[in-house]
Amino acid sequence: MNNFTFYSPARIVFGRDTQKEIGALIKPHAKKVLLHYGGGSIKKSGLYDQVVRSLNENGVSFVELGGVVPNPRLSLVHEGIALCKKEQVDLVLAVGGGSVIDSAKAIAMGVYYEGDVWEVYANGLKIDKALPVAIVLTIPAAGSESSGDTVITNEEKGRKYGYGSPHLRPLISVMNPELFFTLPKNQIANGVADMMSHVFERYFTNTTHVDLTDALAEATLRTIISNAPKLMEDPHDYDAWAEIGFAGTVAHNSLLGMGREEDWACHDMEHELSAAYDVAHGAGLAVLTPAWMRYVHKDNIDMFVQFAVNVMHVDKGLRDKEDLVEEAILRLQGFYRRMGLPQSLKELRIDNKQLTTMAQKATRFAFGKENTLGGLKKLRWEDVLRIYESCQG
Ligand code: NZQ
Ligand code: ZN
Repeated sequence: MNNFTFYSPARIVFGRDTQKEIGALIKPHAKKVLLHYGGGSIKKSGLYDQVVRSLNENGVSFVELGGVVPNPRLSLVHEGIALCKKEQVDLVLAVGGGSVIDSAKAIAMGVYYEGDVWEVYANGLKIDKALPVAIVLTIPAAGSESSGDTVITNEEKGRKYGYGSPHLRPLISVMNPELFFTLPKNQIANGVADMMSHVFERYFTNTTHVDLTDALAEATLRTIISNAPKLMEDPHDYDAWAEIGFAGTVAHNSLLGMGREEDWACHDMEHELSAAYDVAHGAGLAVLTPAWMRYVHKDNIDMFVQFAVNVMHVDKGLRDKEDLVEEAILRLQGFYRRMGLPQSLKELRIDNKQLTTMAQKATRFAFGKENTLGGLKKLRWEDVLRIYESCQG
C-alpha cells in the first residue's frame, strides 16, 4: 500500500425531502448565493420552486444563472464569474448533475483567479482559494458532489479538460433519491456507466497489499450491477436509487483510490470523444472500457481474474485465465447492453476520421509533449489509437 492522505470533507445530507433543508444548511455560510442550474429539468420537476422557497425562508438571497449544458461550456463559466463578482456572491449553489456542479466549481475558483480560468485547467495551475460550493444533486453519475474535480469544455478550442483541487471539494451536498425519479433511461444508464468507471479507474492497479480498497471497490461494483437494472424496470424504486446514489458518491470521493496507483486512461480517452463529438460521458465510457480491458489485461492478468471472480461471478476453472477474463468482459458488455448503452463508436455516431487526432490529443502528443495515459499499463498515442480502432464496430 502506498502512502496517502485522505481528505474528503463534503457534508453529505442524504434522504427523502432533504432538498427542503438547503436554505438552512447554507444560512451559516452565506448571505447571497449564485443559484446555478441546467436546461430546465429542475423547473419541470418543481425542484427549482422548492429550493427558492427554502432559500427565502432562511433569508438567503440569490441571483441565478441557468443554461448549463451537458459537457459544460467555458463561455457560461465566464458569465457566472462576472455575475458573482458584480453581485458579491459568497457561495455557489449548484442544483443539477455533474455538468452544473462542474460549472459551479469553475465559477467558484474563477472569482478569485485573476486571468482566464481556462489557464488553470490547461496548465494544471495550483489555486489557493475558491468560493464554497453547495449542491442539490439531481443525477447520480459524475460523483462531482463529493469530488474536488471539475471538467469543462472550451468550445472555441475543442478541448475538454479536468482539473482537481482540495479547494473544490463541495461544502454541502444534498442527495434525495426521489429527485432521480424523473431521469430518462439513457441518463440513468450513462450515470451508472460513469460511476462504475470511477471504481474501475481506481480498482485496476499494479499496487499490491490493498485488500481493503479492493474489497470496497468490488462491493461498490456489485451494488451498482445488482441495483441498476431495477431502475430500468421501475425508475421510481427508491431503495434501488438510494443504493445507486450512495454508490456513485463512494465511487468518486477518493476513498477507493487510497494507497493505490490509479489509472484514468479510459477517462482521458473518453474526454476526447466528448470534446470532438459532444457524446455523453458515460456512454463513451461504456464503449471504451471493455476495449481498454482487452488491450491491457495481459499486463496484470491476476487483477483481471480477481475482477472476473469477485465482481462478475465467473465460475469457470482458474487454469485458463485468458478465457476467464474474456468471459468477465463479455458479461460486463452484456450488462451495458441490457442498460441500453452503446457498444461501439459507430453507435455513438463517431466515424474514423478523427481517431488519430484524438489519440494524439489525449496523450498531448499533439501539443509537443507526450504524456502516457494510465497506470496499470502506460499507453502512448499509438496504443490509444489501437483501442479506439478496436471499438469502431
Ligand atoms: O440540464 P437539465 O435540464 O437539468 O437536464 C440534465 C441533462 O440534460 C438531465 N437531468 C439531470 N437531472 C435530471 C435530468 N433530467 C431529468 N430529471 C433529473 N432529475 O440529465 C442530463 C445530463 O446531466 P449532466 O449533469 O450532464 O450529467 P452527469 O451528472 O452525468 O455529468 C456529466 C459531466 O460530468 C463530468 C463529465 O465529463 C460530464 O461533463 N464529470 C465530472 C467529474 C467530476 N467533476 O468529478 C468526474 C466524471 O468523471 C466526469 O468526467
Ligand atoms: Zn467519469
